[in-house]
Amino acid sequence: MRDYTIAVIPGDGIGNEVVPEAVRVLDAAGDVTGSYRLRYEQFPWGCEYYLRHGEMMARDGLDILRPFDAIFFGAVGFPTVPDHVSLRGLRLPICQGFEQYVCYRPSVLLPGVRSPLAGKQPGDVDFVVVRENTEGEYAGAGGRSHQGLPIEVAVQTAVFTRVGIERVVRYAFQLARRRRRKLVSATKSNAQPHAMTLWDEVAEAVSREFPDVALERVLIDALAARFVLAPESLDVVVASNLFGDILTDLGAAICGSMGLAPSGNINPEREYPSMFEPVHGSAPDIAGRGIANPIAMCWSAALMLEHLGQVAAAADIMTAIERVTAAGEALTPDLGGKAGTAEAGAALLAALPH
Ligand SMILES: NC(=O)c1ccc[n+]([C@@H]2O[C@H](COP(=O)([O-])OP(=O)(O)OC[C@H]3O[C@@H](n4cnc5c(N)ncnc54)[C@H](O)[C@@H]3O)[C@@H](O)[C@H]2O)c1
Repeated sequence: MRDYTIAVIPGDGIGNEVVPEAVRVLDAAGDVTGSYRLRYEQFPWGCEYYLRHGEMMARDGLDILRPFDAIFFGAVGFPTVPDHVSLRGLRLPICQGFEQYVCYRPSVLLPGVRSPLAGKQPGDVDFVVVRENTEGEYAGAGGRSHQGLPIEVAVQTAVFTRVGIERVVRYAFQLARRRRRKLVSATKSNAQPHAMTLWDEVAEAVSREFPDVALERVLIDALAARFVLAPESLDVVVASNLFGDILTDLGAAICGSMGLAPSGNINPEREYPSMFEPVHGSAPDIAGRGIANPIAMCWSAALMLEHLGQVAAAADIMTAIERVTAAGEALTPDLGGKAGTAEAGAALLAALPH
């Protein structure tokens, strides 16, 4: 029996609705396997906190989070606070400050779920996007001059380092080696001849350590089309921060819903806690109505357990998710069902193997 401490940040909007369901599933999976106990501490950080305190999290937030074994994060962002303030005030400082340089995002078409792509069956879509998570287009470098004047100018500089590219690409190769040994590197070196050629060169160099993994370099625009036209050709995709961000919403969409897509922000060296959250945001359009799909959050819980070494419990949660989608009786409206968040959560609990 292992004890873990988990920092819980439900955040904004539907984050507050899906996190409690996933926590119940995490605890129940632990009861079944008897192999762990989670001790949670919840933090009220997010947009409401910002409106009261002028910042998205406590000033010493990273020091507070550092001793935890993992961070369980709902979503951040709400119309009351500009998106660049909310994202840059909470999620990004955690990902960047804790060197969570791998954003691990699987796209899997689950049984019983209809893909918007005609004729696709479970098994046809099963790939992982490894998104660089600490630099690139989201490095935050740049500024605005002549603010408010007609000559106002904004400069947003992407930052790509050899170390930053190499470490995420190596992780992607290692992952591909454990899967179907195919790695696609998303690039745009035809139009971005500085950063993206460095990206290509580093990918090529790292590929020499992995002669058993096929590396394919694909331009990001062609890759977007391939996600739709031939998702079965994909195994592992490695992409920069912005490219990966866009591709993983596309991945979620072809797998049937934003409400199904999980994610792990991982510090592979385990020097800092890793953070697990759904791909989706706070969904203000449905927040407060009790209809958010809790599956993405529960799947993120499974990724967290896997990271903590609780592989059996993680597999149990995946079994429960697949049983619920295959049965089709407790699906939320995003999947064409009528169930609310609580009903879907209860179905997941009931579907856990005993
Ligand atoms: N990591 C994060 O915390 C994160 C990620 C993306 C967006 N955001 C923020 O979230 C806010 C809303 O952004 P958005 O609308 O572009 O993206 P979103 O992911 O919140 O919503 C996009 C669409 O998907 C639907 N959706 C999302 N999750 C769902 C779920 N679990 N069940 C059912 N339907 C679901 C929403 O209803 C909406 O129609 C913004 O403030 C944005 O900055 C945060």
